[in-house]
Amino acid sequence: MHEPARTLDVLIDQLRWKRPELVAHFYGRLFGRAPELEDLFGGSDQFELNRKFAGALLVIVRAGREPGGVEAHLVDLARDHQHRGVITAERLELFGECMARSIRHYAGEAWGEDIERQWQAAFSAAASLFLATPQPLAAPSENVGTDAHREPLRG
Ligand code: HEM
Repeated sequence: MHEPARTLDVLIDQLRWKRPELVAHFYGRLFGRAPELEDLFGGSDQFELNRKFAGALLVIVRAGREPGGVEAHLVDLARDHQHRGVITAERLELFGECMARSIRHYAGEAWGEDIERQWQAAFSAAASLFLATPQPLAAPSENVGTDAHREPLRG
């Protein structure tokens, strides 16, 4: 891939063939920088890690394109993460940095300044919503039937 891609979503689509390597690169880097996070994802096999990464990437890319369209989904995700107690501003920053590095690594010269700007805008739109979402008011026991009743993560 030599030409800079015009839009982030086109670039991500072009990289779909390299997704397994990209996902392994991302989690390798993330767990290398913050080994304590490995336990949080400990029960996930490669297929599950791939699915979680793809879900996060998709919603981040869409947050850059049409923030209003994914706001409700992001708020749900943010609540789920908060319930598991995994979100801090530092972790979010690290997560975004590792994602950008891995995408850039596999994009090569297709990652240009314009894509860098689009990535920054998309990730900060998603991250701001994560940080701005208040904790759910109801106690976990009152949330049976929603995602919020899930068991907290190990670690
Ligand atoms: C804007 C940033 C982020 C987005 C959009 C995002 C999105 C997602 C998505 C879509 C999933 C999969 C949910 C499912 O199972 O269907 C997921 C899972 C997960 N995320 Fe995030 N995430 C973000 C940041 C983070 C950060 C900073 C951490 C902690 C360092 C984190 C930790 C986790 C963990 C531990 C899981 C797995 C939960 C499980 O195994 O069920 N995420 N995330």
